[in-house]
Amino acid sequence: MKTLWPYLRRFWRAELVATIATIIMAFASLWQPHLLQQVMAAIIANRQQQVLHLGIELIVFAALGIVAGVVNTVFSARAAVGIATALRSDLYKQVQSFAFADIETFAASKLVVRMTNDINQVQGMVMAVFQIVARVPIMFIGALTLALLTVPSLWWLLAIMLIIIVVIAIVGMKRMSKYFGAIQARIDDVNTIARENLMGVRVVKSFVQEDAQIKQFTSASDKMNALAIKIGYTFSVMMPGFFLIGYLAMATAILVIGQSLRVHPAYLAAVASFTGYLMQLLMAVINASFIASGTTRAFVSLGRIGEVFAHKPSMHYPDVPVVNLPGSIEFDHVDFSYPGASQPTLHDINFKVAPGQMVGIVGATGSGKTSLAQLIPRLFDATKGVVKVGGSDVRTLAAGSLRQTVAMVMQRSTLFSGTIASNLRQGKPDATTRDMHWAADIAQSSEFIRRLDAGFNAQVEERSANFSGGQKQRLAITRGVIAHPKVLIMDDSTSALDARSERLVQEALDRELKDTTTVIIAEKIASIIKADQILVLDGGRLIARGTHKELLKTSPEYRAIYQTQKAREGVFADA
Ligand SMILES: Nc1ncnc2c1ncn2[C@@H]1O[C@H](COP(=O)(O)OP(=O)(O)OP(=O)(O)O)[C@@H](O)[C@H]1O
Ligand SMILES: [Mg+2]
Repeated sequence: MKTLWPYLRRFWRAELVATIATIIMAFASLWQPHLLQQVMAAIIANRQQQVLHLGIELIVFAALGIVAGVVNTVFSARAAVGIATALRSDLYKQVQSFAFADIETFAASKLVVRMTNDINQVQGMVMAVFQIVARVPIMFIGALTLALLTVPSLWWLLAIMLIIIVVIAIVGMKRMSKYFGAIQARIDDVNTIARENLMGVRVVKSFVQEDAQIKQFTSASDKMNALAIKIGYTFSVMMPGFFLIGYLAMATAILVIGQSLRVHPAYLAAVASFTGYLMQLLMAVINASFIASGTTRAFVSLGRIGEVFAHKPSMHYPDVPVVNLPGSIEFDHVDFSYPGASQPTLHDINFKVAPGQMVGIVGATGSGKTSLAQLIPRLFDATKGVVKVGGSDVRTLAAGSLRQTVAMVMQRSTLFSGTIASNLRQGKPDATTRDMHWAADIAQSSEFIRRLDAGFNAQVEERSANFSGGQKQRLAITRGVIAHPKVLIMDDSTSALDARSERLVQEALDRELKDTTTVIIAEKIASIIKADQILVLDGGRLIARGTHKELLKTSPEYRAIYQTQKAREGVFADA
């Protein structure tokens, strides 16, 4: 509720109009059975003129009810959609403020469900609440009072009917609300599987995993279905139950009134209005139970949304001016663990890089190369020790200082749907065509961009599916270098490039980004053989450091990697 309150307040005007309209509706429909009773009385007494008058009055009230209904629907919808939109965009902003670590805590696909499905639940509830809630007590009290006034002697019938109906409603709702929480979790499952499948469609197809995927999806979907059926069964018992009780009460009323007609002839006209109120009473209880179940379900969703809002971003940037930094890097006894991981991933890392140097990082897969590199642009914070860029602890720098100093080409870089140019502008918002050509020349992407009809304005599809692995890597490098960063990190960024292109990229980097400190993570030692210093990682520890020549002498591990690679290339050369 705390989550929803500010939003409810923001749309108070629409909510007020909707509530007033629904109150008008309630009174208009309460008045109808009463008018009907008068019409009956007039007919019985054969007063033509009065029948006509009352008939017109009936139509006016019906029209009033309809107009109020339309107004109510329009303004409830305005409030509901408005609230959902505001909630969604705030939630999105909140998620954008999250650091990597925060996103990992929630899992991306579950955040998506919260931003879509859960917000829809809330929207549905707000709509229903403003359509119905104000009406329920008025209809309940009004119908009850008017029914009692119409035929006072039948109070016992009303009491019995209400007790039975309320009992059915409570039992049914209890059963259903148990399923509501569960069904929301199942929706999470189905969404996650569908998303994974569609995003990994190439893997699914190439490993002929369609059947397995269908099975997995079907099983998740069946579980959801089973719950939905249980809810459906409960409903399908409840609804006829309600109406059965209602009609039984009606029949009893007609029976009893019919027998007492000799004593109270005026009751004849009251039959219609009494049964009308009976029905309205029944509807009030049904509506109340609907709202109760709807809000139970929406509150589950609201809770899930509230969790995201309550989560404080784990990383804060101090509010200091953006400054130009030199491209030096320093790790001072740095330890790092991923959130939730029991073991630290990096242990006591120590090294210094002077501006303009080229640094290579090598090590077996899983040795912590990516983990180390991502501490430089502060994607994560070190758990112990200090990471410095340009001589300052990264935690004391403004986000802007870091972003304009450090560019990282990720191991699994993503391009966004849009155009090539729009992707490049992520690296430099005011990039000119000249900047783009310059960067594309360095990254060796000019050649294939030139072959595209639209050039830099060529479309990039979702998940950049219309580019090959090597093209994607080149575009990611282009985006990385375009802002002429002081520190450029390339995490396995040339793995999909042939040896010649890789050499051309390196030569261009040497030539065009002379003062840039480059950190190159590479599987092949050949890629970093010329580095000013090479860091050798093993199991999260920095086990050796030096130039290629030095390491060949001092580090048996480095020598081993080098010799394996040389041998392998030797085999290739012979083949
Ligand atoms: N997001 C993460 N959350 C938890 N643990 C992670 C995460 N990313 C990596 N790890 C763990 O940290 C360790 C180091 O991973 P890292 O990605 O740094 O290796 P790497 O040297 O870059 O390997 P590769 O050469 O395969 O890219 C691995 O054991 C991995 O399981
Ligand atoms: Mg890696």
